[in-house]
Amino acid sequence: MPQSPSVHVAPTLEALSQDAADYIVQTVTAAVAARGRCMLALSGGSTPRRTHELLAQPPRRDAVPWTALHVFWGDERCVPSEHADSNYRMAVETMLAHVPIPREQIYRVPTEEGPAPIVAALYERVLRTAFALEVDEVPQFDLILLGMGPDGHTASLFPGTPALEETQRLVVPSQIDYLPHERVTFTFPVLNAARAVAFLVAGADKAPKVRAALQGDPSVPAGRVRPAGALHWFLDRAAARLL
Ligand code: 6PG
Repeated sequence: MPQSPSVHVAPTLEALSQDAADYIVQTVTAAVAARGRCMLALSGGSTPRRTHELLAQPPRRDAVPWTALHVFWGDERCVPSEHADSNYRMAVETMLAHVPIPREQIYRVPTEEGPAPIVAALYERVLRTAFALEVDEVPQFDLILLGMGPDGHTASLFPGTPALEETQRLVVPSQIDYLPHERVTFTFPVLNAARAVAFLVAGADKAPKVRAALQGDPSVPAGRVRPAGALHWFLDRAAARLL
């Protein structure tokens, strides 16, 4: 049975980032203490940048058990890793290049391997191998970080797209006419299997869909993220203004 969301409202993006960084340190540390490793999926977009930077600086940098942390991406644009729009590049620049995480524990989406359907299938295989899954098993991440667009999309699960209805595959392609790149994205089975999900959402333009998502509006993809485990929404005051 999904738990009720925990909503954390901070005055600014900086304060939101501080709160989110503290929550991530606590969650990663607890996962490693309980299971010997933490399986974490990062979000893309711009909101997580400051949270990443805070995790890569003392004191938080020294508190994270980086050698037991495994990092994945909940979605990725199908561009080269050095492309300005790459979620991988953003995470490396803001965090991963500055912390002692073993390279083999960074599971980049292999966007150079072909069109989105091929990349999605390859990344699903990466997940199945990393989690040592049986054929019909779904990976249970310790923590999945997510953002939300003004249209209510999360990861690359956009309103009105076939990816929203996927129940079998773990990773699927996502193509949106008005966006410049094909993408691949985790599906709801993966998001909703997580031990914990944390949304990081800032900005007044997102307030209507934040309210709709927290009301469980099924037309809003972010509102369909109802994990078996904990669900946290880290908001700035602007994004929370309609709550
Ligand atoms: C992506 C993200 C996407 C993002 C939202 C919010 O690859 O674009 O995963 O879901 O989280 O679009 O983006 P901002 O944080 O830039 O507002």
